[in-house]
Amino acid sequence: MGDLAPSTVTSTPQRHAADLIVFGGTGDLSMRKLIPALYHCDRDGRLADETRIIAMSRGGLTDADFRGKVDSEVRPALHGDDDEGWQRFLRRLHHVSLDVGSSDRGGWSALTHLLAGYEDRDRVFYLASPPMTFGPFCREAHEAGLVTPRSRVVLEKPLGRDLVSAQAINDEVGEIFDERQIFRIDHYLGKETVQNLLVLRFANAFLEPVWNSLWIDHVQITVAETVGTPGRRGYYDHAGALRDMVQNHLLQLLCLVAMEPPSRNDRESIRDEKVKVLQSLRPIVGSEVDRFAVRGQYTAGEGVPGYLDEPASTPTTDISHRVETYAAIRAEVKNWRWAGVPFYLRTGKRLPDRRSEIVIQFKDVPHAIFPGAAPNRLVLRLQPSEGIHLLLMAKEPGAGEVTLRPVPLSLSFAETFQSRVPDAYERLLMDVLAGNPTLFMRRDEVEAAWRWIDPIIENWEGSESLPEPYPAGTAGPAGAHELLARSGRTWHEEEL
Ligand code: BG6
Repeated sequence: MGDLAPSTVTSTPQRHAADLIVFGGTGDLSMRKLIPALYHCDRDGRLADETRIIAMSRGGLTDADFRGKVDSEVRPALHGDDDEGWQRFLRRLHHVSLDVGSSDRGGWSALTHLLAGYEDRDRVFYLASPPMTFGPFCREAHEAGLVTPRSRVVLEKPLGRDLVSAQAINDEVGEIFDERQIFRIDHYLGKETVQNLLVLRFANAFLEPVWNSLWIDHVQITVAETVGTPGRRGYYDHAGALRDMVQNHLLQLLCLVAMEPPSRNDRESIRDEKVKVLQSLRPIVGSEVDRFAVRGQYTAGEGVPGYLDEPASTPTTDISHRVETYAAIRAEVKNWRWAGVPFYLRTGKRLPDRRSEIVIQFKDVPHAIFPGAAPNRLVLRLQPSEGIHLLLMAKEPGAGEVTLRPVPLSLSFAETFQSRVPDAYERLLMDVLAGNPTLFMRRDEVEAAWRWIDPIIENWEGSESLPEPYPAGTAGPAGAHELLARSGRTWHEEEL
């Protein structure tokens, strides 16, 4: 028998006391993702006893108000909290009111007071706020004398709205923080299956020889959501699916599938390989945009409004009519390994299922002796249940004619490891606290991604035509299906 004991692939060094300052600390991201993730880290004993979480917002709350808000809004959504642990967690929470860009320095004085005497701690500024606040926040934190050598800053995506604005933000933040102190977060990189993709590719020998254009027909990357955009028009009108999802999450997944084996599992080697992939993407420009990219916007469906009628605090404008809630692109990585292999990317809101996955479709067998054989597929499922499925052809039991059926060899992480699959933010927050930037985007990666996305956005924004409508709850615009049908392919929709 072989040794089946677990082997440690990466480890996140543990746990000095830190001050985690969340700007936008009462916002949606903080309340839905960051605070629950921090609670789970605390419950699992991964936060040092003295670590504090300081939310900053314009809300004018006291510590007690903020703790009350977290208690009433976050606690009901948690599974299996224990009262003692929860009360301990609440005691870590503080709130400081701050209005970045205003002449009132009261917020900075209050924060200075709270942080005084703790200069030798790790200090993390987490900016869960719109990108235009990143530069001003960093400058004001610096002017207040709060940026210490042990400080880091976390920037939420999307970083800017195009290459030029991303460069400007990177420059502004870079005036205050060294690149090694800047953590640009893409929460998809913290998802368990995404981590496992690296392990699958680079800790198993059998895949690498077939991981290329000789054996792989094409790759599909899907992030499908059932949710719409209620209450988010102010943000979404100026983002759209390309900026919100493709520039970051989908391109990062593409990088991990397509990258060359790094020489080490360390902060720079993996990011060096990813940036090479982004730089190898064939640009899609001018009239090619219509051929290789498809956009859609959802209209009303069963029981739900269309994008334009979603409840929102801002009225619809001409921009609202033009924004895409669905995007599909046929991308190509121009290098030896991937020559001629299309990478199909698609993402959309108000689709029939919530499903995120990467599908590697292999080529047909070179000579078919059985009728009905379908090509093998490797499906890396990120959502709803994280796992890996290899679809193999098998013979259905029975005498008589040989009938083939694709059957999955499946690895469900939850079943195999019998443990809770942590949320992506838990992993990433712990990495920030430990100062490990491997799973965060480097400046050159973010900029290379914008360089590729920009011409598609420019074409769409300058075009007279509007996104193709699709009713909420259906599988997206017809154009997305034609994108594959042109080469005789179809999107993978299989239940697993
Ligand atoms: C965010 C986008 O980055 O990712 C949202 O801004 C999207 O629009 C979300 O809904 C999807 O994340 P997940 O982890 O739920 O797939």
